[in-house]
Amino acid sequence: MATLANGIRHLPGYLDRAAQERLVELIRGIVAEAPLYVPEMPGTGKPMSVRMTNCGPLGWVTDREKGYRYQSFHPGTKKPWPAMPEELLDLWQKLAGYSKPPEACLINFYSDDAKMGLHQDRDEADLVAPLLSISLGNSCLFRVGGLDRKGPTGSFRLSSGDIVILGGEGRLAFHGVDRIYPGTSTLLRNGGRINLTLRRVNS
Ligand code: SIN
Ligand code: FE2
Repeated sequence: MATLANGIRHLPGYLDRAAQERLVELIRGIVAEAPLYVPEMPGTGKPMSVRMTNCGPLGWVTDREKGYRYQSFHPGTKKPWPAMPEELLDLWQKLAGYSKPPEACLINFYSDDAKMGLHQDRDEADLVAPLLSISLGNSCLFRVGGLDRKGPTGSFRLSSGDIVILGGEGRLAFHGVDRIYPGTSTLLRNGGRINLTLRRVNS
């Protein structure tokens, strides 16, 4: 386990292949109930390159009109998000060091040409609980900085089975995904990368 800076931890290969396959199977079930959709930037309505869905009591959504928020139902189907699998709750309990359970698991799917710009996760009322992020499928170049958008950043590769925790002073660190490396994992039949982010929303 490497301690990067300010409570940011990278746990390379934390999940073995069997655990990764189990998560992919669970995600397939979730996506069947709560389909991936293309999120829009607030205001401009510009589509993001990742597709998203959620599981857990709350899900993170965005659209042109109402912007970033948490809500209890899928914006397309209007049905409650599927339950958060025990496997994810267990990981949180082992790694987050936080007594309350996560309320949201954002599921991001990156095709091999998708990326995510530098941003902070700050739509949560609870900014003390860490963010716990799981990588599955193709590797990516993950970029992380400090609390200032214009400040210095560093980047490192995240591979399938890796976990990243943004906690402590690193909870509000700017982060993003510069690129996906096609063909670097056999986990997902059609390539791409999945990222799961577990979050506590309400304090
Ligand atoms: C995110 O910040 O929402 C995703 C990070 C990642 O894909 O690793
Ligand atoms: Fe994020």
